[in-house]
Amino acid sequence: MQIFLDTAKIEEIREAVELGVISGVTTNPSLMMRAGRGDYKAVAQEICYLVQGPVSAEVTSTEAEEMVEQAKAIAQWSPHVVVKIPVTAEGLRAIHALSKLTPDPDNICQGCPWRGKCQTDPDVAHDLALTWGIRTNATLVFSANQALLAALAGASYVSPFVGRLDDAGNDGMQVVADIVDIFAAYGFETQVIAASIRHPMHIVQAALLGADIATVPYAVLMKAIKHPLTDVGIERFLADWAKVSK
Ligand code: E4P
Repeated sequence: MQIFLDTAKIEEIREAVELGVISGVTTNPSLMMRAGRGDYKAVAQEICYLVQGPVSAEVTSTEAEEMVEQAKAIAQWSPHVVVKIPVTAEGLRAIHALSKLTPDPDNICQGCPWRGKCQTDPDVAHDLALTWGIRTNATLVFSANQALLAALAGASYVSPFVGRLDDAGNDGMQVVADIVDIFAAYGFETQVIAASIRHPMHIVQAALLGADIATVPYAVLMKAIKHPLTDVGIERFLADWAKVSK
């Protein structure tokens, strides 16, 4: 299972990249607000430069035609960008339309300030745009039916919101389990992102269930690194070594 970081904060992403444990990033308008940033394109392009993996950026329209127009613009930011679309009837219509579209490869990474320094050079970006097309992440998924419908419509990823389901008295991980089973039974290529992760055991549970990805807030990732016995063990080794190493 891969881990994505669920944040729009550049410092958190830089640190997690240095740890070598994240393969992508998910953002949404609330995470942009928490990062204090309204310049979505600049933030997404910097994240793509840092992560060199899938970076989800969300549309803000609720109407299919407008979602498609926003998604087409977002998809030009970088071949690494994945467009997040909420699962509604309008959202499914947009996902389906976008599954047949490709970004304009000659204008990919337009205005990106990281051009020239980025590992994804312009020729590679051009080819990736053609190969990957416009990828979508069906977001705000709260049932296996919504995930199935998003996959049928052509979504590249589906994001069941585990924590918010748990908050509402449902079993979020059971929804992830059902989606993983359904996609495996019918050979869907759509990847399952366990989202709205609230604590380290959610990561373990998602991995055991066979989710392709868990998207994890920075604070949860830091908690997952730590174990009190590791700290005690280090202290003891250092104390013992100090006794004999003089
Ligand atoms: C997923 O892509 C979402 O950004 C995120 O996981 C939502 O989580 P929350 O319920 O903590 O807002």
